[in-house]
Amino acid sequence: MRKKITVVGGGNVGASCAVNLAYKELGDVVLVDVVEGVPQGKALDMLQMGPVEGYDVRITGANDYAPTANSDVVVITAGLARKPGMSRDDLLLANHEVVKGVSEQIAKYSPNAIIILVTNPLDAMCWSAFKASKFPKHRVIGMAGVLDSARFRTFIAQELDVSVENVTAVVMGGHGDTMVPVVRLSGVSGIPLTELIAPDKLAAIVDRTRNGGAEIVKYLKTGSAYYAPSASAVEMVESILKDKKKVLPCASYLEGEYGINGLFVGVPVKLGAKGIEQIYEIKLTEEEKGMLAKSAASVQELIDILKTKV
Ligand code: 2OP
Repeated sequence: MRKKITVVGGGNVGASCAVNLAYKELGDVVLVDVVEGVPQGKALDMLQMGPVEGYDVRITGANDYAPTANSDVVVITAGLARKPGMSRDDLLLANHEVVKGVSEQIAKYSPNAIIILVTNPLDAMCWSAFKASKFPKHRVIGMAGVLDSARFRTFIAQELDVSVENVTAVVMGGHGDTMVPVVRLSGVSGIPLTELIAPDKLAAIVDRTRNGGAEIVKYLKTGSAYYAPSASAVEMVESILKDKKKVLPCASYLEGEYGINGLFVGVPVKLGAKGIEQIYEIKLTEEEKGMLAKSAASVQELIDILKTKV
């Protein structure tokens, strides 16, 4: 039986996600958006690219959730972008309402699905989806670490003029400027980064990674990144649907791991058919532990706001 993937949100991230899923023929795709006509039009356009590109999946658009029934994986990209005059808290609460509503519909129509969150603020929105869907923790996963480590890998490869394929990198923590690119666990074909890049250069790369999203917003002015974010979500979908068991940094609900409790924070996990099949609790240095705790505290701040206001 063919797999079914729902992508909620027909904006740049959602549409790019849908088209990447089609290219990889990971399953039939349903694109959902509240704006009438947009998901239908984009889906039909993508479907008509199939004969040219040689992919063979059904792609449909919808404004409601009935057509999404029995999805295997749901990628949630829906949400508002920050507008002038809106505070971070306004965005948090507005997107909480969006993600809550979407997650309730997913739970109703696809009770066995695995949810991948992309909506920002990412780690807090994972919490919203987890609470609203009432899904077990291994079936609610946030996309951030794959993107953040892809950015880290890109900058390392650029600096050394080597293939990105040889660069491995670990980025942990929340998806914000407190994220923790773990230099000690990153390298090029097994060679530690510290052997290859001078400390000041390395510090600049870490800093650029932490602000990787903002760098693109600054260029685009009216929007944020979508090619790399959607490709990152699709890598996670692929690992799940093909049961590849890739080890990737993902926002996961922690219950004591790394001393963090009741929060979604990015850590290395094994992604397979069941969703998160294992959380890796690696030994960190005192400095890394401190950075991770600081990052978790910034996620906790948002959850505290959600808890008091909703
Ligand atoms: C990014 O980091 C917006 O979260 C997205 O580009």
